[in-house]
Amino acid sequence: MGDRLKDKVAIVIGAGQQSGDTIGNGRAISILFAREGAKVMLVDQNIDSAQETKLMIDKEGKESITFKANIVKEEDCRQIVEKCVDLYGQVDILVNNVGIGEGDKSLVNLSEDIWDKIFNANLKGMFFTCKYILPVMEKQGNGSIINISSIAAVCATPLVAYKISKSGVNSLTHQLAMKYAKKGIRINAIMPGYLNTPMAIEGISRARGISKEDLIKERDSLVPLKGGMGNAWDTAYAALFLASDEAKFITSVILPVDGGQSARIG
Ligand SMILES: NC(=O)c1ccc[n+]([C@@H]2O[C@H](COP(=O)([O-])OP(=O)(O)OC[C@H]3O[C@@H](n4cnc5c(N)ncnc54)[C@H](O)[C@@H]3O)[C@@H](O)[C@H]2O)c1
Repeated sequence: MGDRLKDKVAIVIGAGQQSGDTIGNGRAISILFAREGAKVMLVDQNIDSAQETKLMIDKEGKESITFKANIVKEEDCRQIVEKCVDLYGQVDILVNNVGIGEGDKSLVNLSEDIWDKIFNANLKGMFFTCKYILPVMEKQGNGSIINISSIAAVCATPLVAYKISKSGVNSLTHQLAMKYAKKGIRINAIMPGYLNTPMAIEGISRARGISKEDLIKERDSLVPLKGGMGNAWDTAYAALFLASDEAKFITSVILPVDGGQSARIG
């Protein structure tokens, strides 16, 4: 397709997806990055799903490899980076796409287990991947990290652990962006709003016990922009821009991709 990421090496964490009718964020980001010329390392704890992403990339004649890792484990994160550097000699882009919300409840009903599970996947894993990638990018003198947050971080939501962990993602983004700006490393976050993806539609319709059709109708009606919900390609195009040299003067931005939903708080 294009060459906006020509000669770049990208790691996408959470490059597989839950099963469902539509494409997920991590898969769409991986495919788009490969289309634009990047070599993409597809990391997921569900290696079969990462492999499906790879097959889609193969069909387009583009380059990717898969790597199985659970980012909640520090050693796995060290190995992700080591493998990428061994293979390609560089890491230009890291996308931290993993995020979970299953089991989240109102605070008084929330168990310690679910709190820990959500915080470990959404925040601790990001701490580990950044911990091992930053020294590599620092040595290179360049790099772009994109953290997938959520507008739940800034909008009212009943999801307690999800919201607070995503607020942590935004803070981590700001903190690291300032620390590494002088080193030439840009660190930004994307806050998707309501998207028609399996995580949101299949996942939430199951959790709330309502049909997918009713949930889609409800969510479409809550988006200010004409057309209703977005989809994973909207996240992917925002990530592509932030990853590319077109965004060379952009760091520490927390970008809503939400059809105007988060502006409602203003
Ligand atoms: N879909 C939406 O509507 C929406 C809205 C706002 C924010 N987000 C954010 O988008 C991101 C995910 O979107 P998606 O559509 O790709 O979701 P998805 O759940 O379909 O895919 C995420 C992938 O991450 C993998 N994964 C989960 N835990 C992991 C771990 N510990 N180690 C390695 N891999 C792990 C899963 O196996 C899965 O393949 C999350 O950060 C989520 O919070 C999504």
